[in-house]
Amino acid sequence: RENHLQVAIDGPAGAGKSTIARIVADKLGLYYLDTGAMYRSVAYKALASGISLQDEKAVTGLARIIDIRLSHNDRQTVFCDGEDVTSKIRDVEVSRAVSLIASYPGVRNRLVELQRQEALKGNIVMDGRDIGTYVLPDAGIKIFLTASASERARRRYLENIKEGKMVSLEEIRSDIEKRDVVDSQRKFAPLKPAKDAVILDTTGLTIDEVVAKIIRIIREG
Ligand code: CDP
Ligand code: CDP
Repeated sequence: RENHLQVAIDGPAGAGKSTIARIVADKLGLYYLDTGAMYRSVAYKALASGISLQDEKAVTGLARIIDIRLSHNDRQTVFCDGEDVTSKIRDVEVSRAVSLIASYPGVRNRLVELQRQEALKGNIVMDGRDIGTYVLPDAGIKIFLTASASERARRRYLENIKEGKMVSLEEIRSDIEKRDVVDSQRKFAPLKPAKDAVILDTTGLTIDEVVAKIIRIIREG
């Protein structure tokens, strides 16, 4: 077992992982690492440099040299080779490209190495798809956060409206469902609950309610 408190939060798109993980980290004074932002950064960089997403070798090479910096401030700024990509990595083009490049073992190996390094710094909450199953298999707390597909699509839709991005609810739902299929069917470290994870269905729950449940689980150890 690790001496540090490690909280692993996994689950499908729009389940509330990053929103909840950030608040929990803030309330308990833990580091927070958004591993999805790292895969998104690689996808963004591949698109921006005109590398074919199908070219596994080239994308893997890119993942090996890319410099990703995630600030631990509350804005969670993401810098990629010196460029502020915080908002760009959330674009629909990146969302559509990310699951393919995240299926490449070479890309995952590199990012997992960086993620494990972060975990050495101290008590941490990490969210993603394979944190409890692969990145931090000895994490003391493992949560698998989920919600119905329509609820998850609706949450993302409302988020887009707030940011002035016009994507239809149907399109968002179809995009996240496709991504979930690729993420859960890939061979290497697929999306699935760890055997010892607490499964939390957040459909119909508010953010505060989910945060309270998780803090209770952490306190009860
Ligand atoms: O926030 P959202 O659920 O839309 O996605 P994300 O957490 O930013 O992750 C984006 C994509 O990165 C996922 O759909 C996965 O393909 C990949 N990912 C992964 O494979 N493993 C992780 N630990 C985190 C993300
Ligand atoms: O990281 P993940 O893709 O799992 O979800 P997210 O990016 O945190 O997005 C979830 C969205 O649903 C955010 O806009 C939250 O404000 C909202 N939400 C939530 O996270 N949890 C609830 N129980 C209700 C709404």
